[in-house]
Amino acid sequence: MRATLTLLVIYFHVLLSSGSDNDQRWFVSLVDLVELDYEDHCEQRASAYWDELMGSSKGLSMKLERDKAFGIFGRSQTTDIRSALSSYTYTQEDEILRRKVKLLLQPGDTLLKTEQWIRLVTFGDTAMNKIRFATNYDCGTTTNCTLRELHNSLARQHDEETVRRMKESWEKNLPDLNDYLDNILPLLRNSSNETNFNSVEEYWDFLGEYEGATLKARELWDHIKPLYVKLHKYVTLKLKGPDEVGKPLPVHLLKSLTGDDWSNLIENLLPKHPDIYQKVLANLQLKELGGLKAFKEASKLIQELSFGELEPQIWEESVFNGSCPTILVDWCKPNKVRAVSCKDVSIGNYIDAHEAAMKIKYKQTTALHSNNTYLLREAARYSAVYEAIPGFTSLLALNPHALDRAGLYQLDRFNFNPNHHRLVLQLIVALRDLPKLNYFLAADEWRLKVLMGTIPQSKIATSWSEFRKNFSLIETSNVDILGDSYVLLNKPYIGKFLGVILKYQIYQSFAEELASDESDLVKHVADSNSRITDAMMQGFGVIWPEMVSDLLAKRENGLEYTGLTDYYRLLDEYLDNQLEPSENNEIDDYIEPVIPEPEENEIPAAQEKPEESFNQPQTHENILDNIIETGEESHSKFETSTVAVMEIKNAPGDQKEDESRKEASYSTYWWIGIAVAVAVIVILIAIIARKRHSHRKQLEKQRRDHSRA
Ligand SMILES: *[C@@H]1O[C@H](CO)[C@@H](O)[C@H](O)[C@H]1NC(C)=O
Ligand SMILES: *[C@@H]1O[C@H](CO)[C@@H](O)[C@H](O)[C@H]1NC(C)=O
Ligand SMILES: *[C@@H]1O[C@H](CO)[C@@H](O)[C@H](O)[C@H]1NC(C)=O
Ligand SMILES: *[C@@H]1O[C@H](CO)[C@@H](O)[C@H](O)[C@H]1NC(C)=O
Repeated sequence: MRATLTLLVIYFHVLLSSGSDNDQRWFVSLVDLVELDYEDHCEQRASAYWDELMGSSKGLSMKLERDKAFGIFGRSQTTDIRSALSSYTYTQEDEILRRKVKLLLQPGDTLLKTEQWIRLVTFGDTAMNKIRFATNYDCGTTTNCTLRELHNSLARQHDEETVRRMKESWEKNLPDLNDYLDNILPLLRNSSNETNFNSVEEYWDFLGEYEGATLKARELWDHIKPLYVKLHKYVTLKLKGPDEVGKPLPVHLLKSLTGDDWSNLIENLLPKHPDIYQKVLANLQLKELGGLKAFKEASKLIQELSFGELEPQIWEESVFNGSCPTILVDWCKPNKVRAVSCKDVSIGNYIDAHEAAMKIKYKQTTALHSNNTYLLREAARYSAVYEAIPGFTSLLALNPHALDRAGLYQLDRFNFNPNHHRLVLQLIVALRDLPKLNYFLAADEWRLKVLMGTIPQSKIATSWSEFRKNFSLIETSNVDILGDSYVLLNKPYIGKFLGVILKYQIYQSFAEELASDESDLVKHVADSNSRITDAMMQGFGVIWPEMVSDLLAKRENGLEYTGLTDYYRLLDEYLDNQLEPSENNEIDDYIEPVIPEPEENEIPAAQEKPEESFNQPQTHENILDNIIETGEESHSKFETSTVAVMEIKNAPGDQKEDESRKEASYSTYWWIGIAVAVAVIVILIAIIARKRHSHRKQLEKQRRDHSRA
């Protein structure tokens, strides 16, 4: 309905204006129309995706239909826009329009030829569906289990051999590597050709909207790698003893399917005084802060940060008895996002809930900003800012004041031995973020390498494990990368990688403004959160690197590794001391805290607060899946119509006319208006019906072609 009204207004413009302006306005309304079509696609894809996630029997086939139709539409709309653009001349005020047109003309992988697009989504959707719903995983017991149970058992299992078997059972559900290498990965070359790039690396940098992004990531990694290697050595030291330090670790020892998160090992790695870890975990369990409750805590933190409330209906409609990592499904409307998550309690899931909740807040903020339209919210681009802000929020949840308010760890207690506690907190985050950074880059670099053709054909099938051994010091299988939706759907990780870097810079920019280490960082961010809100409001209106300077309060203009390395200063020192013990680290400055402490089970519920969340690939699938669909902009539409109505009134009104003539002309205009409105509505309905019809026909044709092929 709102869409119809908007178009009505546009057509009024066109009809009431004269001559050459018509071409101009026609083009603007065509862009609006295409955006509305994208909106439609978003809605339909989201519904189908949701059904699929809920395990509906038609879910997968419906999702496939929608995703195919989306690609066909994405490709065909570029033709319409390109031809209409030829008769349009940009004016100076057209900055936003220019941006939209650029996004429309270069929509990413949907530019693939239809048969190739269909191949890509069929492969990815089918594989993800199988992984999600298989029930033949080995959980180390006599009966087979689900993915959720597999994740849980993996965290708890201590027997090496059993963990290895569990991972193998997972690998059996992954798609065929040769199929991927022959038919899916090379599609990236075609996508980059269609977008006029010579190399996939340039194409990915372009989608990440940062020139030389991959080069930058390599450079940043060079500075972060020493810390990663130290953590790796420390893990090896603890698991296998000093003789193995520096050698690659078999991935199952990390209790991880792909080695991108080492959190399950934390109990083996804790420093001598793990008080804060034990209490936070115990309190999480006591309060059962998993699933919905974890999301509600996250929502509290978001409010404490003065970003506003999250609509409670989001949680009512979400589902928390599925599997983790959390998936967000986006209908591209301000308040229509839903999450599928699990109810299991763990520090990691708690952290992920924070990140996911902040992503929802981000989407809402972008959506509510007056001149953001679908395209500017849901562009097929990979924004590091979109990754960094939710990641930053999750770091804040680990802040001592935030832990205290959540009833997870008393501030009084933190005031004794603060550095011991900080160290433990850094370890918790590091076990998630450092392996992830490494994995993100590894997944991109390996794919680029295979595509460059530098690996001899005979070695390609084993090249992932080879690459991972050198680059990550992890011994994996040749196929485990095929459990990753980003890989299955040919998406780059570059945006996520840079997002992790940036989140530490944002953290540092606020932390440096604090009067003292003891001040409440959450409060401070709440008091000066406008630089974050501003960035969220912009959506994809500008490219994200242009926001970085303001986001960091102009301290830095670009990405720097120092935010991250400074954050981990204590951990870095600790790892040095562990790897090369010297006498003076033997001094133990730990003081037994002497504070009256409430019994854990007496902690009043009102004190609860949200816990940390970190940057997480957990939500990958969801957000970028629905990438192009646009949300609706209630405000902008309202504004547009107000302006238009005023113009319509002014247009007829000649000030020299006398009062009665004015009135007469108004009422004439009123009647003409009604007549035109009726006509326009009829035409519109016809246009939309025809468009839908032709989409459907195209789709059916595709399907026939496909099944014939
Ligand atoms: C478990 O899965 C394996 C491998 O897919 C299968 O061979 C076996 O029959 C399953 N066992 C049960 C009890 O379902
Ligand atoms: C890429 O496009 C070319 C030319 O259209 C085609 O021959 C080739 O098969 C495509 N690649 C893949 C992997 O489909
Ligand atoms: C989750 O809960 C809903 C009802 O709340 C139920 O219909 C569904 O079967 C459950 N799913 C799983 C995987 O347990
Ligand atoms: C978009 O909105 C911002 C803030 O409301 C405003 O400054 C800017 O001029 C608007 N841009 C357009 C093209 O309307």
